Amino acid sequence: MGKKVKIGIIGLGYVGLPLARLFATKFPVVGFDINKERIKELREGLDVTKEVEKDVLRSVLVNDTINDKGLFCSFKLEDIADCNYYIITVPTPVDKNNRPDLTPLFKSSESVGKVLKKGDTVIYESTVYPGVTEDECVPVLEKFSNLIFNTDFYIGYSPERINPGDKEHTVDKILKVTAGSTLESAKEINDLYSSVITAGTHLAPSIKVAEAAKVIENSQRDINIAFVNELAKIFNLMNIDTQAVLEAAGTKWNFIPFKPGLVGGHCIGVDPYYLAQKAQEIGYHPEIILAGRRMNDSMGEYISSEIIKLMLKKDLKIKGAKVLILGITFKENCPDVRNTKVVDVVRSLKEYGLDITIFDPLADPYQVLSEYSLQTVKELPREKFDALVLAVAHKEFLEMNFDGLKNPKAVIYDVKGVLGDRCDKKL
Ligand SMILES: NC(=O)c1ccc[n+]([C@@H]2O[C@H](COP(=O)([O-])OP(=O)(O)OC[C@H]3O[C@@H](n4cnc5c(N)ncnc54)[C@H](O)[C@@H]3O)[C@@H](O)[C@H]2O)c1
Repeated sequence: MGKKVKIGIIGLGYVGLPLARLFATKFPVVGFDINKERIKELREGLDVTKEVEKDVLRSVLVNDTINDKGLFCSFKLEDIADCNYYIITVPTPVDKNNRPDLTPLFKSSESVGKVLKKGDTVIYESTVYPGVTEDECVPVLEKFSNLIFNTDFYIGYSPERINPGDKEHTVDKILKVTAGSTLESAKEINDLYSSVITAGTHLAPSIKVAEAAKVIENSQRDINIAFVNELAKIFNLMNIDTQAVLEAAGTKWNFIPFKPGLVGGHCIGVDPYYLAQKAQEIGYHPEIILAGRRMNDSMGEYISSEIIKLMLKKDLKIKGAKVLILGITFKENCPDVRNTKVVDVVRSLKEYGLDITIFDPLADPYQVLSEYSLQTVKELPREKFDALVLAVAHKEFLEMNFDGLKNPKAVIYDVKGVLGDRCDKKL
């Protein structure tokens, strides 16, 4: 890189922290987050998302902003004032009607706008629909900085592709798409990422192309999973083992392997709504994208009805039956419970009058309680149940002996298809 680099990373969550840690091995980085508790924990080397190990985080932490390299974490805006690159990694959720909620992007753009200087570059990493960065965020940056876009400051977009809980495909090992608002800034931004991303970069021809690329990656996964979820519903009616069908079909060189299941979290289950909303705004009704969303959102209720049928077949009394749900997080080996669809299974089972216990060694019980009003336990209960539901394939569950947890006629339902013949039925 030609010029001296100082990076401010705005939003130190699942995406921002690993990125800040990585850049801090080469550059001075200030990690800024409005969550004071998060900053306090990070300063002690504790990452509750479990994406960055304590010793790895501690190896880059510094106590002030005047270092050649290292990560200084702060909730004070003035601490990012002398950075010349700002990377925004804040959440992009949907509201209760599944419409994009750009508030965190606006708020963080406002913060950056207040400290923006001539020659600075602002890069967005949050997942959005094409046009958000230039049409929605730039006006906020201009308003709060009184600077002129592409004359005084430049912007970029580089979508994040990390997979929480995945210790193999870490941020440095995933090829990164980059884009900039001018030819020169695009090249500079690409060079910045190339200096730390060992997997390489792909410089996209425009910011809108890079934004679109990210949102279709997740929409494609959503639609593919919706297709196998539909297959699971069809084959279950026909008494055909869906996993066996997928395994057989998977022997063809161009069959794409996807498994049926719950689609939760804040990426695959949310991002397609961003694309759909934009499509509708410009007069196109996206049929496939929204059909995929409807199918995947119906799976919690479906799984619960399958469990009830299984219990009835074994003459188990439904009302008051004790059920153990194994896992509440939205995916395996990760403590993230945002938008977890296991909650749909639990709520639906509760409507049948079942007595539910949720065991998850990774999920934070306080977070689950405040977000979903559900009690969870981190220790395996010493009780017997009428039904066990493997909802999340955490490592801890794969080798677990279920015998001590089962009443004589108890059923085991495997949402993830990982228990082999140890379950009575799988999705
Ligand atoms: N988590 C993933 O797997 C993943 C993968 C790829 C892309 N993404 C995308 O990356 C973006 C960030 O996701 P995430 O999972 O890291 O979110 P997150 O909720 O884990 O982290 C976001 C952080 O931003 C902070 N924040 C919110 N508003 C802020 C503001 N105005 N100023 C400063 N900090 C602020 C929050 O306190 C939080 O710590 C989203 O657009 C998401 O879709 C996420």
